Amino acid sequence: MGTDSGAARAPDALNCRVVPPARPVADLAEDARRGLLRRPRSLPPKYFYDERGSRLFDAICATPEYYPTRAEDALLARHAAAIIARARPGHILELGSGTSRKTRHLLAACEGGATAPTYWPFDVCEEMLLAAGAELARRYDWLTVRPLLGDYCAGLSHLPLPAGRRLFVFLGGTIGNFEPTQAAALLGELRALMGPGDFLLLGADRVKDPVVLHAAYNDAGGVTAEFNRNLLHVLNRELDADFAVDAYRHEALYRQDLRRIEMYLVSTRAQTVRLRALDACIGLAEGERILTEISCKFTPDALAALLAAAGLALDAHYAPPDGAFSLVLARPQ
Ligand code: AVJ
Repeated sequence: MGTDSGAARAPDALNCRVVPPARPVADLAEDARRGLLRRPRSLPPKYFYDERGSRLFDAICATPEYYPTRAEDALLARHAAAIIARARPGHILELGSGTSRKTRHLLAACEGGATAPTYWPFDVCEEMLLAAGAELARRYDWLTVRPLLGDYCAGLSHLPLPAGRRLFVFLGGTIGNFEPTQAAALLGELRALMGPGDFLLLGADRVKDPVVLHAAYNDAGGVTAEFNRNLLHVLNRELDADFAVDAYRHEALYRQDLRRIEMYLVSTRAQTVRLRALDACIGLAEGERILTEISCKFTPDALAALLAAAGLALDAHYAPPDGAFSLVLARPQ
């Protein structure tokens, strides 16, 4: 913990504390070397989110087909007061806070409470942290915001742990972007930070009609396709590569056996790609695919099992009548 109080700061005085990586984490060059130079080809989904990618993701959330953001927002609006009443947090720490848009429901529910909590948004993007923090400080004059800059994939053991009851928040269904063992490991790392009075609020997308899931990742307006292909622009820029972006098509399919969406970029013709920063060339056959994202969907039982695997017990489960999305409140077992 730092010694500065952080209280009553002007919004423009916000600054980020850097959370150093707890373990070495692969960069894009290393992930591309591992994922693109051999088959089956894949890349981690975190590289989607450059500035254009983040804007495209916001646009996905506004499509009629992509329901998770709206479903989660409605759950937060409806249950924020109950969540805050159960957790009674002195501190709210959010992993991957982004614009903090949905988290406002939780903060609003703290208004006028016995103790004003401190909000600790944790994200890789400094610009977003500062903009979101300033907006929140304007909106809630009683709120202390302490932005944390870092990558939760690099471990959580260097997160500052303020004294008091803590509510950890991990929204958006992003837990679904991890393979089950990785997801349990990430939640286990969170669990290791938690004291007996702490809570975790986790958002997760649910198993449902495959037609609905398919449509959510194949919007008619082509926004998801553009979001997917944006990864190639990122590679071209960051790795001095020459992907012909228009020569790849978006494919997203629901694997009922694995209960997950798999998203691919499919090469529409045989082509060679040069990645200058890697000093490498790769040949893609016509129809060859690059896996760019998995998005796991959960049943209530699978969610409880995931929590249990991480040493967490379900405290409350909030879901709409149609079961489109779940918010679970968990605590150490
Ligand atoms: C924000 C990562 C949860 O997996 O549904 C949306 C990202 N990808 N459309 C998801 C995404 C394609 C989204 N997450």
